[in-house]
Amino acid sequence: MSLPIGVLISGTGTNLQAIIDKIEQGILDAKIKVVISNNPSAFGIKRAKDHNIPCEVIDHRKFPSREDHEKRVVEVLESSGAQVIVLAGYMRLLSKFIINKFSNRILNIHPSILPSFKGIEAQKQAFDYGVKISGATVHFVDEHLDHGPIIIQSAVSVLDNDYISLANRILKTEHRIYPQAIQWIAENRIKIVGRKVEVKDLGKKKFADISDLQPCIINPPLEEGF
Ligand code: GRF
Repeated sequence: MSLPIGVLISGTGTNLQAIIDKIEQGILDAKIKVVISNNPSAFGIKRAKDHNIPCEVIDHRKFPSREDHEKRVVEVLESSGAQVIVLAGYMRLLSKFIINKFSNRILNIHPSILPSFKGIEAQKQAFDYGVKISGATVHFVDEHLDHGPIIIQSAVSVLDNDYISLANRILKTEHRIYPQAIQWIAENRIKIVGRKVEVKDLGKKKFADISDLQPCIINPPLEEGF
Protein backbone atom coordinates (compact mmCIF):
# COMPACT_ATOMS: atom_id res chain seq x y z
CA MET A 1 0.00 0.00 0.00
CA SER A 2 1.23 3.49 -0.81
CA LEU A 3 2.25 5.58 2.19
CA PRO A 4 -0.69 7.87 3.08
CA ILE A 5 0.66 11.37 3.75
CA GLY A 6 -0.75 14.77 4.62
CA VAL A 7 1.15 17.82 3.40
CA LEU A 8 1.04 21.12 5.29
CA ILE A 9 1.89 24.28 3.38
CA SER A 10 1.80 28.06 3.76
CA GLY A 11 3.23 29.33 0.51
CA THR A 12 4.35 28.58 -3.02
CA GLY A 13 4.45 24.82 -2.55
CA THR A 14 7.35 23.94 -4.83
CA ASN A 15 8.28 21.07 -2.49
CA LEU A 16 4.66 19.92 -2.62
CA GLN A 17 4.95 19.99 -6.42
CA ALA A 18 8.17 17.95 -6.34
CA ILE A 19 6.40 15.33 -4.21
CA ILE A 20 3.36 15.28 -6.52
CA ASP A 21 5.63 14.89 -9.56
CA LYS A 22 7.57 11.96 -8.10
CA ILE A 23 4.31 10.24 -7.14
CA GLU A 24 2.88 10.76 -10.62
CA GLN A 25 6.08 9.44 -12.17
CA GLY A 26 5.65 6.26 -10.12
CA ILE A 27 8.93 6.81 -8.28
CA LEU A 28 7.57 7.85 -4.89
CA ASP A 29 5.20 5.27 -3.45
CA ALA A 30 3.00 7.64 -1.46
CA LYS A 31 -0.51 9.02 -1.70
CA ILE A 32 -1.30 12.57 -0.65
CA LYS A 33 -4.52 12.18 1.30
CA VAL A 34 -4.86 15.88 2.02
CA VAL A 35 -3.05 19.19 1.62
CA ILE A 36 -3.68 21.70 4.40
CA SER A 37 -2.80 25.36 4.12
CA ASN A 38 -3.05 27.85 6.96
CA ASN A 39 -2.77 30.61 4.38
CA PRO A 40 -5.82 31.09 2.12
CA SER A 41 -3.72 32.71 -0.62
CA ALA A 42 -0.95 30.10 -0.76
CA PHE A 43 -0.13 29.20 -4.36
CA GLY A 44 0.31 25.59 -3.27
CA ILE A 45 -3.49 25.31 -2.98
CA LYS A 46 -3.74 25.63 -6.76
CA ARG A 47 -1.09 22.95 -7.21
CA ALA A 48 -3.14 20.53 -5.10
CA LYS A 49 -6.37 21.36 -6.92
CA ASP A 50 -4.71 20.99 -10.34
CA HIS A 51 -3.83 17.43 -9.37
CA ASN A 52 -7.21 16.61 -7.79
CA ILE A 53 -5.75 16.33 -4.32
CA PRO A 54 -8.15 17.14 -1.46
CA CYS A 55 -7.15 20.48 -0.03
CA GLU A 56 -8.35 22.30 3.03
CA VAL A 57 -7.64 25.87 4.11
CA ILE A 58 -7.46 26.10 7.89
CA ASP A 59 -6.73 29.75 8.51
CA HIS A 60 -5.09 30.10 11.94
CA ARG A 61 -6.38 33.68 12.24
CA LYS A 62 -9.91 32.34 12.44
CA PHE A 63 -9.27 30.34 15.61
CA PRO A 64 -9.21 31.75 19.15
CA SER A 65 -5.98 29.92 20.08
CA ARG A 66 -3.09 27.91 18.62
CA GLU A 67 -4.53 24.84 20.30
CA ASP A 68 -7.92 25.25 18.66
CA HIS A 69 -6.29 25.68 15.28
CA GLU A 70 -4.16 22.58 15.72
CA LYS A 71 -7.12 20.53 16.91
CA ARG A 72 -8.81 21.25 13.61
CA VAL A 73 -5.63 20.42 11.68
CA VAL A 74 -5.36 17.09 13.51
CA GLU A 75 -9.05 16.34 12.90
CA VAL A 76 -8.62 16.85 9.17
CA LEU A 77 -5.38 14.84 9.07
CA GLU A 78 -6.88 11.94 11.00
CA SER A 79 -10.06 11.79 8.99
CA SER A 80 -8.01 11.84 5.77
CA GLY A 81 -6.17 8.70 6.84
CA ALA A 82 -2.73 10.32 6.58
CA GLN A 83 -0.11 8.38 8.54
CA VAL A 84 2.80 10.74 8.00
CA ILE A 85 2.78 14.54 8.04
CA VAL A 86 5.03 16.36 5.61
CA LEU A 87 5.72 20.01 6.41
CA ALA A 88 6.49 21.73 3.13
CA GLY A 89 7.04 25.39 3.81
CA TYR A 90 4.54 25.39 6.67
CA MET A 91 5.21 28.60 8.57
CA ARG A 92 3.65 27.66 11.91
CA LEU A 93 5.34 26.14 14.91
CA LEU A 94 3.77 22.86 15.96
CA SER A 95 2.84 22.34 19.59
CA LYS A 96 3.35 19.19 21.65
CA PHE A 97 -0.28 18.29 21.00
CA ILE A 98 0.29 17.48 17.34
CA ILE A 99 3.88 16.27 17.76
CA ASN A 100 2.85 13.68 20.35
CA LYS A 101 -0.08 12.52 18.25
CA PHE A 102 2.19 11.88 15.28
CA SER A 103 5.36 10.97 17.14
CA ASN A 104 8.27 10.30 14.72
CA ARG A 105 5.82 10.65 11.86
CA ILE A 106 6.26 14.35 11.09
CA LEU A 107 8.90 15.47 8.59
CA ASN A 108 10.23 18.92 7.86
CA ILE A 109 12.58 20.38 5.29
CA HIS A 110 14.81 23.27 6.26
CA PRO A 111 17.01 25.30 3.90
CA SER A 112 20.30 25.04 5.80
CA ILE A 113 22.67 22.41 7.04
CA LEU A 114 21.25 21.94 10.50
CA PRO A 115 22.06 22.59 13.30
CA SER A 116 23.32 25.82 11.70
CA PHE A 117 20.90 28.61 10.84
CA LYS A 118 17.62 27.51 12.35
CA GLY A 119 14.48 29.58 11.96
CA ILE A 120 13.34 31.84 9.17
CA GLU A 121 15.37 33.04 6.16
CA ALA A 122 18.00 30.39 6.77
CA GLN A 123 19.54 30.85 3.32
CA LYS A 124 19.98 34.57 4.05
CA GLN A 125 21.35 33.89 7.53
CA ALA A 126 23.98 31.56 6.05
CA PHE A 127 24.86 33.97 3.24
CA ASP A 128 25.19 36.94 5.60
CA TYR A 129 27.29 34.91 8.03
CA GLY A 130 29.76 34.19 5.25
CA VAL A 131 29.79 30.40 5.33
CA LYS A 132 31.24 28.77 2.21
CA ILE A 133 28.86 25.84 2.15
CA SER A 134 25.17 25.68 2.89
CA GLY A 135 22.34 23.40 1.89
CA ALA A 136 19.18 21.71 3.08
CA THR A 137 18.08 19.18 5.69
CA VAL A 138 15.14 16.79 5.96
CA HIS A 139 14.51 15.84 9.56
CA PHE A 140 11.92 14.42 11.90
CA VAL A 141 10.09 17.06 13.89
CA ASP A 142 10.37 17.14 17.65
CA GLU A 143 9.32 19.77 20.17
CA HIS A 144 12.29 22.04 19.44
CA LEU A 145 12.62 24.27 16.40
CA ASP A 146 14.44 22.66 13.42
CA HIS A 147 15.93 20.09 15.76
CA GLY A 148 14.75 16.47 15.36
CA PRO A 149 16.79 13.53 13.99
CA ILE A 150 18.25 14.17 10.53
CA ILE A 151 17.36 11.91 7.61
CA ILE A 152 19.25 13.47 4.69
CA GLN A 153 21.24 16.61 3.92
CA SER A 154 22.43 18.34 0.76
CA ALA A 155 25.41 20.69 0.62
CA VAL A 156 26.03 23.35 -2.02
CA SER A 157 28.73 25.98 -2.44
CA VAL A 158 28.13 29.59 -1.50
CA LEU A 159 29.41 31.87 -4.24
CA ASP A 160 30.47 35.47 -3.69
CA ASN A 161 27.66 38.03 -3.89
CA ASP A 162 25.15 35.56 -5.18
CA TYR A 163 22.43 35.14 -2.62
CA ILE A 164 19.65 34.51 -5.17
CA SER A 165 21.56 31.75 -6.88
CA LEU A 166 22.33 30.18 -3.51
CA ALA A 167 18.65 30.15 -2.51
CA ASN A 168 17.70 28.67 -5.88
CA ARG A 169 20.37 25.99 -5.81
CA ILE A 170 19.38 24.99 -2.29
CA LEU A 171 15.72 24.78 -3.34
CA LYS A 172 16.65 22.59 -6.32
CA THR A 173 18.30 20.12 -3.95
CA GLU A 174 15.27 20.25 -1.64
CA HIS A 175 13.11 19.00 -4.49
CA ARG A 176 15.40 15.97 -4.79
CA ILE A 177 15.98 15.08 -1.14
CA TYR A 178 12.45 15.48 0.22
CA PRO A 179 10.74 12.89 -2.04
CA GLN A 180 13.67 10.54 -1.39
CA ALA A 181 13.31 10.80 2.39
CA ILE A 182 9.58 10.11 2.11
CA GLN A 183 10.27 7.09 -0.10
CA TRP A 184 12.63 5.63 2.51
CA ILE A 185 9.81 5.91 5.03
CA ALA A 186 7.36 4.36 2.55
CA GLU A 187 9.79 1.45 2.14
CA ASN A 188 10.12 1.13 5.91
CA ARG A 189 13.89 1.54 5.66
CA ILE A 190 14.31 4.22 8.32
CA LYS A 191 15.41 3.43 11.85
CA ILE A 192 15.72 6.15 14.49
CA VAL A 193 18.31 5.46 17.17
CA GLY A 194 18.43 8.39 19.59
CA ARG A 195 19.40 11.37 17.46
CA LYS A 196 20.67 9.18 14.64
CA VAL A 197 18.72 8.01 11.62
CA GLU A 198 19.85 4.90 9.78
CA VAL A 199 18.70 4.12 6.26
CA LYS A 200 18.69 0.37 5.72
CA ASP A 201 20.00 -1.37 2.61
CA LEU A 202 21.82 1.61 1.16
CA GLY A 203 23.82 0.55 -1.85
CA LYS A 204 21.38 -2.16 -2.93
CA LYS A 205 19.85 0.22 -5.45
CA LYS A 206 21.67 2.25 -8.09
CA PHE A 207 22.47 5.79 -7.05
CA ALA A 208 20.95 8.80 -8.84
CA ASP A 209 22.79 11.04 -11.24
CA ILE A 210 23.12 14.43 -9.52
CA SER A 211 25.46 16.00 -12.07
CA ASP A 212 22.89 18.75 -12.76
CA LEU A 213 23.30 19.92 -9.16
CA GLN A 214 27.10 20.05 -9.09
CA PRO A 215 28.96 21.06 -7.06
CA CYS A 216 26.78 19.32 -4.49
CA ILE A 217 27.08 16.58 -1.91
CA ILE A 218 24.01 14.65 -0.80
CA ASN A 219 24.21 12.20 2.05
CA PRO A 220 22.90 9.52 2.29
CA PRO A 221 23.13 9.40 -1.52
CA LEU A 222 19.99 9.67 -3.60
CA GLU A 223 18.79 6.50 -5.26
CA GLU A 224 17.90 6.14 -8.93
CA GLY A 225 14.87 8.21 -9.90
CA PHE A 226 15.39 10.90 -7.26
C1 GRF B 1 11.64 25.87 1.51
O1 GRF B 1 12.84 26.57 1.35
C2 GRF B 1 11.70 24.99 2.72
O2 GRF B 1 12.98 24.53 2.99
C3 GRF B 1 11.24 25.91 3.80
O3 GRF B 1 10.26 26.72 3.21
C4 GRF B 1 10.46 26.79 1.81
C5 GRF B 1 9.19 26.32 1.19
O4 GRF B 1 9.19 26.45 -0.18
N1 GRF B 1 10.79 25.15 4.94
P1 GRF B 1 7.99 25.86 -1.04
O5 GRF B 1 6.70 26.43 -0.47
O6 GRF B 1 8.05 24.37 -0.95
O7 GRF B 1 8.24 26.37 -2.42
